[in-house]
Amino acid sequence: DDGKAGVKGLVDAGITNLPRIFIRPPEELIEEKNIGHLQVQVPVIDLSGIQGGDKSNSVIDEIRQHPQQASEEWGFFQVINHGIPQSLLDEMIDGTHKFHEQDAEVKKQYYSRDLLRMVRYFSNGDLFESSTANWNDCLAIKLTASNQVEADELPEVCRSPVIDYASHVNKLGETLFELLSEALGLELDNLNALGCAESCYFLLHYYPPCPEPDKTQGVKRHTDFSFLTILLQDQIGGLQVLYDNQWADVPLIPGSLTVNIGDLLQIISNDRFKSAEHRVLANRIGPRVSVPCFFGGVSTPARKYGPLKELISEESPALYKEFTVPEYAQNFFSMPYDGSHRDIWKI
Ligand code: SIN
Ligand code: FE2
Repeated sequence: DDGKAGVKGLVDAGITNLPRIFIRPPEELIEEKNIGHLQVQVPVIDLSGIQGGDKSNSVIDEIRQHPQQASEEWGFFQVINHGIPQSLLDEMIDGTHKFHEQDAEVKKQYYSRDLLRMVRYFSNGDLFESSTANWNDCLAIKLTASNQVEADELPEVCRSPVIDYASHVNKLGETLFELLSEALGLELDNLNALGCAESCYFLLHYYPPCPEPDKTQGVKRHTDFSFLTILLQDQIGGLQVLYDNQWADVPLIPGSLTVNIGDLLQIISNDRFKSAEHRVLANRIGPRVSVPCFFGGVSTPARKYGPLKELISEESPALYKEFTVPEYAQNFFSMPYDGSHRDIWKI
């Protein structure tokens, strides 16, 4: 099989043992088993104050404390009362099911290994150079530089929610970049002016039920390449974040969205913010779906990024060299993931 029928195709065919490409080497499994499990809560930030346009000092002050702690200690937080209607979140989850659960022949039209395609379906893949495949099928959707959707290219079954969700999540992203600018002690629009919220990239993840979940994974541990990621997930669970060198479950709060700092923001914040490692466990129960939106900043590929001048001083010198986003991407995706992608750019 060339993978075009996806992991879902394997499950539909009734397999009870995992094909070899999904089975992780024993040393990797042992290493991960040795990492403890943590019973702590990822920070939750209530955005109701700013959704009404209230950006008065007391609201900002209150919110500022949270992203600061959430971003510096965790690199992960959840937002509630974020202003995106529940009906739209439900439609987006539903549209993700519909894409992956339609006839395999239709999905195959979108199958491609060409990373430049606007809309691309793939499976048995991994973002990184890797020997084992993830238990997951994926539809990737790239928006234009100004975050417009090429509507004609979108699969019909999920077209309408993708268009609506993209416009809402883009606004939420800009709001979060304002809060994070404030949390860094910068001007409100500083991160948006740098283009952090430009060039969104969506993944519509589909994790079929797995007959041998302990031998594989939904998505292997990694950090995100983005400045920031906003994730919509259903109520199945399996996402974990590494905190204090232990895995913590990201709780399922209905209506919430999960936000995490990516590598690019860690670097331009000169390590004030943290790009946290996370992973998705495979599960007997499923399918699970999730939709991360990555804010990537590639609309102006020649623009150089490095630690922000405002955050550098004699006591706190720049920790990284400057690079363009395409330069960063090249290393990030062509190396095995071992957490050292950022170190290449260390001074
Ligand atoms: C990812 O990190 O891309 C996947 C997150 C998830 O499915 O919850
Ligand atoms: Fe991720």
